[in-house]
Amino acid sequence: MKINLAHIKKAKKYLNKNECVAIPTETVYGLAGNAYSDKACEKIFRLKKRPKYNPLIVHYYDYKNLKDDCNLNENFFKLYKKFCPGPVTFILNLKKKSRISKIITNQKMMLAVRFPKHVVTRNLLKKIKFPLAAPSANISSRLSPVCSKDVKEDFGKEIKFILEGGRSTIGIESTIIDIRNEPKILRLGGIDVKTIQKILNRKIILKNNPSKVSAPGQSKIHYSPGIPIRLKAKKAKNEEAFLFINKKKKPKSNYYYLSKKGNLNEAAKNLYSTLRKIKKDKYKSIAVAKIPNQGLGKAINDRLMRASKF
Ligand code: TXA
Ligand code: MG
Repeated sequence: MKINLAHIKKAKKYLNKNECVAIPTETVYGLAGNAYSDKACEKIFRLKKRPKYNPLIVHYYDYKNLKDDCNLNENFFKLYKKFCPGPVTFILNLKKKSRISKIITNQKMMLAVRFPKHVVTRNLLKKIKFPLAAPSANISSRLSPVCSKDVKEDFGKEIKFILEGGRSTIGIESTIIDIRNEPKILRLGGIDVKTIQKILNRKIILKNNPSKVSAPGQSKIHYSPGIPIRLKAKKAKNEEAFLFINKKKKPKSNYYYLSKKGNLNEAAKNLYSTLRKIKKDKYKSIAVAKIPNQGLGKAINDRLMRASKF
């Protein structure tokens, strides 16, 4: 991807003034603001209509920038070496002297941090003097955006600038792992749990059950396209869109697929855009055929399950 330096400069100018701009990442687009500024963070919550108790993820260029704000440990470095920059978010303890706005964590002393891989955002992060608080750039509980057009749909002119970065290559949010003590996965995402287990050489607890809310944002109605979703469907009812993992030999007009050959990474990449498309095509509900529960398929099923509670 070619970097437009004039665009980066413009984003930097707004961020320095504590305004919010949308930034591209390899997972989904984020709604970014200066993580050291109460004013910028207030704006993020207001624009997203996000409840204050649901904390924000903070994005850093690298761990050197993070050392002032959080306590790092052995597990952090193991995972950092292998996956960063990339689609993993760490929950860490905040240091007392940290300058992170208290609004981000709702006064709590734990912080979610991530090192995005997207070259445009990395270039921006390198040029600014603060980390970026950036939750997904959607109104709370709606679908996350995977391109600048998606961001525009939710926010229109309400945000000052969208930094263009093309389509997100992973298309599903980062995996969240709490590594303060015994590692726990709080959200399935862009890196599959098996790969993380291999690096840490241990089994990792999954604490992403929406009925037992551990991360405040793990609410049941997350990731919703705004129409009902029915899972593990064998048939589509009248007027339902029918979503498959792969392309069918005899497609019908209401058939949609996530990956021609059923590749799970490609399916994750296409998930949100396909759900948006179905909604735009005016279907009132979606039947989803069974999706293999392995690799990124687990994260896809997790999102669809939450969306189905709408
Ligand atoms: O891939 C991603 O993670 C994207 C891109 C933009 O980086 N960001 C993203 O942010 O998905 P958001 O805010 O939509 O989801 C972050 C989740 C929320 O469910 C939030 O509750 C949880 O992370 N979270 C944030 N801070 C936390 C903390 N200190 N402890 C536990 N969970 C936290
Ligand atoms: Mg989100």
